[in-house]
Amino acid sequence: MNAMASGPGGRTVSRHLPFGEKRDSRFYGQSILSVSQFDQVDLATIFEVAREMRAMVERVGSFDLLKGKVLTNLFYEPSTRTSSSFVAAIERLGGSVIQINNVRFSSVAKGESLPDTIRTLESYSDAIVLRHPEKGSAALAASHATKPIINAGDGPGEHPTQALLDIFTIREEMGRIDGLTITMLGDLKYGRTVHSLSRLLTLYDVRLNYVSPKILSMPSSLVESLAKEGTPQNEYRELEPVLPETDVLYVTRVQKERFENQAEYEQVRGTYVITPETLAAAKEKMIVMHPLPRVGEISMEVDTDPRAAYFRQMENGMYVRMALLALVLGKA
Ligand code: ASP
Ligand code: CP
Repeated sequence: MNAMASGPGGRTVSRHLPFGEKRDSRFYGQSILSVSQFDQVDLATIFEVAREMRAMVERVGSFDLLKGKVLTNLFYEPSTRTSSSFVAAIERLGGSVIQINNVRFSSVAKGESLPDTIRTLESYSDAIVLRHPEKGSAALAASHATKPIINAGDGPGEHPTQALLDIFTIREEMGRIDGLTITMLGDLKYGRTVHSLSRLLTLYDVRLNYVSPKILSMPSSLVESLAKEGTPQNEYRELEPVLPETDVLYVTRVQKERFENQAEYEQVRGTYVITPETLAAAKEKMIVMHPLPRVGEISMEVDTDPRAAYFRQMENGMYVRMALLALVLGKA
């Protein structure tokens, strides 16, 4: 991992290592804030451990790798998958969780700041998973923390653990990542999953297509930074021209909660809907992904198509998060 992954809050990690923990991991004690902190070696490590986690879950269900460890889930925004897969991950590893899913019932409602909330919760737990509506909030939290902070989505910024499970899914489904054409569809302006995924894909030799209404285009600063990395990118308004060449179709929800003007949201919602008829023009060996939740972008009739990978993708989230927790807490 590069400098961004230096110890949480820029501090060196604990000098005292609890019995049985491994210190050789590059992840030990580190916050997970942005995909920019990972290189290909890191991804290979995470994916290898995630496969081991999947095998162990299939074989024994739960095991005591992180017995005694306590994770805090601190969510200022709604979540089903990220929140519950982190709960499942720590519990399947023998640890436990402090679950704050609705900050309205915490002292945040009394006006407590994010730094003070983090200082409090880290005194009870070994790592904090944070979802927050402000871009940069995970980095801010990490700068006030001595324990690892895991960014579970910072507004329209990033969702790094989602990008890890997305690339893991592409690798498992397609057998490779290099050489693929990946088409991202929907809300590319506010969609943090596409921001993280596109950045992380610069580590590979892929071609990216962006399909969106003009007002939901990929941020130009991001396009420029990917261009500097040498990733070929093309922008479209319609899916039809690029669907036949697409190996991975990554569909996203229009992020209603990020719009200042709801009339603008109404204009663009429902622009693209994937149906079995849409997929008639797609390759036989391709996959359809979606970070979920979907609110109409993929019709339910697509679910039985073997190319529909979004539920497998969602399940992979638990294995990848088990791997991350094991690596960050030093027991992989
Ligand atoms: N669940 C993903 C996120 O939190 C995608 C979405 O909500 O549309 O970013
Ligand atoms: N993919 C994702 O982050 O889902 P949730 O918003 O349900 O956590």
